[in-house]
Amino acid sequence: MERGNIALWIILVAAVYVVVGAHLNPTGRYYIDDITGYKFPYYANLDLSTENSSVTKLILVIHGGQRNAIDYYNLLYNIAQSTNTLPKTAIVAPHFLCWKDNPTLDVLSFDCDGWLRGLASVNKDTIYSFTVLDWLLIAGAMRFPHLTEIIVVGHSAGGQTVQRYGASTTKGITEVLRVPVKYVVVNPGTYMYLDDKRLSHSAHHQLKYRCPALSGSSLCNFTASDFVGPYWRVGSCPEYNSGKYGLENSEGYIRNVPANTIIQRYPSRNFTYLLGDLDVKLTRPLDLHCAANDTGYSRKQRGLVWEKYLYLTQNVSNTTQVFKIVPHCGHEMTCMFNSSEFRAEIGSPTDPIGLVHSRRL
Ligand SMILES: *[C@@H]1O[C@H](CO)[C@@H](O)[C@H](O)[C@H]1NC(C)=O
Ligand SMILES: *[C@@H]1O[C@H](CO)[C@@H](O)[C@H](O)[C@H]1NC(C)=O
Ligand SMILES: *[C@@H]1O[C@H](CO)[C@@H](O)[C@H](O)[C@H]1NC(C)=O
Ligand SMILES: *[C@@H]1O[C@H](CO)[C@@H](O)[C@H](O)[C@H]1NC(C)=O
Ligand SMILES: *[C@@H]1O[C@H](CO)[C@@H](O)[C@H](O)[C@H]1NC(C)=O
Ligand SMILES: *[C@@H]1O[C@H](CO)[C@@H](O)[C@H](O)[C@H]1NC(C)=O
Ligand SMILES: *[C@@H]1O[C@H](CO)[C@@H](O)[C@H](O)[C@H]1NC(C)=O
Repeated sequence: MERGNIALWIILVAAVYVVVGAHLNPTGRYYIDDITGYKFPYYANLDLSTENSSVTKLILVIHGGQRNAIDYYNLLYNIAQSTNTLPKTAIVAPHFLCWKDNPTLDVLSFDCDGWLRGLASVNKDTIYSFTVLDWLLIAGAMRFPHLTEIIVVGHSAGGQTVQRYGASTTKGITEVLRVPVKYVVVNPGTYMYLDDKRLSHSAHHQLKYRCPALSGSSLCNFTASDFVGPYWRVGSCPEYNSGKYGLENSEGYIRNVPANTIIQRYPSRNFTYLLGDLDVKLTRPLDLHCAANDTGYSRKQRGLVWEKYLYLTQNVSNTTQVFKIVPHCGHEMTCMFNSSEFRAEIGSPTDPIGLVHSRRL
């Protein structure tokens, strides 16, 4: 348990007990209320205020930049349905709303680019987007006594969320939830680096040749000495290790967790990174900031460089953190989630997703 956090923890658990129940309609869009009266929406195949002793697996799926939580919910629902595992699988898709969604005043909403990096809600500055993820996982761990597995997955902006949340959470972890937790990061545009090391000037110059990331190739032959800190281009790109890109000048939820704690714990956390083999386009909404470009140009290349960085500089081993290239997929959620690589991660390796019925919830 965190430094003397036990009292806080008890308060938090009590709060979740009281408020997660404040729902709802029976159709699949549910709400968590915080104690001060705001509510937070999520899609799920069951209400997290109800105990269910058949549930053994909890999948928390985070939407991408379009905030289309229901589409992600439907995909996961279809996977579970096609494997007849729906009754024992809780699928929970939190919905981070921002001003573009015209949220009503009683709903927690977030900066359109802030939720993916743990910033506070715009209407309640003590509640961060990652706090809400903590609540949902705690609620699941409490309501499903036979839970054996928690999987937190996200694609694109959701993949960024999962990498940053998995790195920084003090609640969404095996030690607290008493259930093994796995983070599945799919096609994120950027990663939160753990120190000031980046590719050296010459290594960056050779990105194209040493980490081509073209279709069919996962070659990325950098070595430890190719990662050097502080970054050579710090003068023209001072933000390279700040905010969402690194652990300096942390914001929101992450500001409350000491950087050393994040660095020390990262290697022990279970991460799988899935990179679309064809996710190589260099156009927006890909982050084209210098701090992002400096870690690789395409999403796939950024993933391969991140792999080298973790294995070569961060004491991360491939027993806890695994990288997989998903053939034939670009930056496309259905292709990625319907791949055998993704389905293996969530324990449904053999059955592809059938026809996805859209449910209006
Ligand atoms: C919850 O429990 C009931 C049995 O009481 C079961 O029929 C149902 O499908 C379970 N699972 C989910 C995800 O709702
Ligand atoms: C990682 O996954 C393994 C295998 O499921 C599990 O035993 C372990 O508790 C997990 N570790 C963490 C820190 O969640
Ligand atoms: C690995 O990188 C070096 C540059 O240091 C390059 O010359 C070499 O061709 C690369 N290896 C392969 C197998 O491409
Ligand atoms: C990042 O790289 C892209 C090409 O991949 C380029 O268009 C863009 O201008 C670069 N951004 C910066 C800040 O240099
Ligand atoms: C690296 O990890 C291993 C086991 O996970 C640990 O025993 C060792 O102390 C770590 N080394 C450093 C430098 O953090
Ligand atoms: C993990 O790394 C070791 C040595 O670096 C390698 O032999 C092994 O094949 C790797 N395992 C996986 C699953 O990639
Ligand atoms: C998933 O892939 C299978 C083929 O492996 C295909 O038949 C099915 O239509 C795909 N599902 C979706 C939703 O694209």
